[in-house]
Amino acid sequence: MDLMEYQAKELFARHGVPVTLGTVVTDAAEASAAARAHGDRVVVKAQVKTGGRGKAGGVKLATDPDDAVDKASEILGMNIKGHIVHRVLVAPAAEIAEEYYVSFLVDRANRNYLCIASVEGGVEIEVTAKENPDAVAKVSIDPLVGLDEAKVEEIVTATGFAPEIADQAKDVVRQLWRVFVAEDATLVEVNPLVRLSDGTLEALDGKASVDESAGFRHPDHSGFEVVENEDLLELAAREKGLNYVKLDGSVGIIGNGAGLVMSTLDVVAYAGRRHGDVTPANFLDIGGGASAEVMANGLQIVLGDEQVKSVFVNVFGGITACDAVANGIVGALDALGEQANKPLVVRLDGNNVSEGRRILTERNHPLVTLVDTMDGAADRAAELAHNQSVA
Ligand SMILES: Nc1ncnc2c1ncn2[C@@H]1O[C@H](COP(=O)(O)OP(=O)(O)OP(=O)(O)O)[C@@H](O)[C@H]1O
Ligand SMILES: [Mg+2]
Repeated sequence: MDLMEYQAKELFARHGVPVTLGTVVTDAAEASAAARAHGDRVVVKAQVKTGGRGKAGGVKLATDPDDAVDKASEILGMNIKGHIVHRVLVAPAAEIAEEYYVSFLVDRANRNYLCIASVEGGVEIEVTAKENPDAVAKVSIDPLVGLDEAKVEEIVTATGFAPEIADQAKDVVRQLWRVFVAEDATLVEVNPLVRLSDGTLEALDGKASVDESAGFRHPDHSGFEVVENEDLLELAAREKGLNYVKLDGSVGIIGNGAGLVMSTLDVVAYAGRRHGDVTPANFLDIGGGASAEVMANGLQIVLGDEQVKSVFVNVFGGITACDAVANGIVGALDALGEQANKPLVVRLDGNNVSEGRRILTERNHPLVTLVDTMDGAADRAAELAHNQSVA
């Protein structure tokens, strides 16, 4: 699980890494009080699980509380590499003398841990690593030995920290390693670690990824799971054991098998070009056993998405034959009753297809259209979604 900056800094603080926590706000108006609490001159920083926020305009300096509100409203709602900003961190503006980079990560290829560090940190670190690789130190750490004092010395020397800050740099290296080990992280990264004008070091940014497989050792880590509005359906789907990903369009998709569902997304997007550019609303793989219960759960999730205008059920009968799937669809629609309120286009093929189609034809549900081919069904579903949205 990737953490946001403010969460990573919370972990860092537990292990003594010098950080200033700041205040997280979700509403621009709250940035004013937050700025006053942090000495008026602050930075307003987008909290999203991606790097390069600074370059994307997601990190801004504010000179006073009113300015902080302006900056927060500029940043909230911003789309940074596909991540919508729902919260910003308001933290004191630091007087930066120099910016460094330090990280620990799992080096799977070499079955080691790796420390990467540089005295040329900051938002250009990727460029530096590429164009001037000698400016970036890489020191591997034997997992059976861990970070002993000789290794700390090696890291600080290889990085080239100036003598007057070497002791502080050693402290930070030890503290970050403690975060890495004690929190079962697969990555901890500080960019920039800064030398402030008073000569002290502080982690101004923080990135961490914790291993969910070790979650049982860290019950507190579940508190880092952030549920945004659009994630609620994904959460509900996960609780029902369904493989669901919310997308932006209006044609709900239900299929069995990840490959079939992915190609369904493609044909719907393609057919959508003929019908007002409608696109898929989600990915939902109900897996092999398309029972009435699984189908009902799937339909409930997809119909729960307000953006959905039509649903395309695309099932290829295999071990679970088409008649069982057809009964599943009929059973699901009966179970959902009024909740089933959008047109359904069903395409069945494969094992026992004629019996499956017979069951659906006989039931003659007013919402269900049966189409024999995948392309034809995609076209019909896209057309229905478009008609609904212009109606
Ligand atoms: N508290 C602060 N005070 C002053 N300047 C700051 C502060 N926090 C960040 N900055 C400046 O903004 C730059 C970008 O911020 P930060 O590193 O937190 O985000 P980022 O761009 O997402 O990071 P990265 O490039 O590592 O992904 C920093 O390199 C630093 O120069
Ligand atoms: Mg950074």
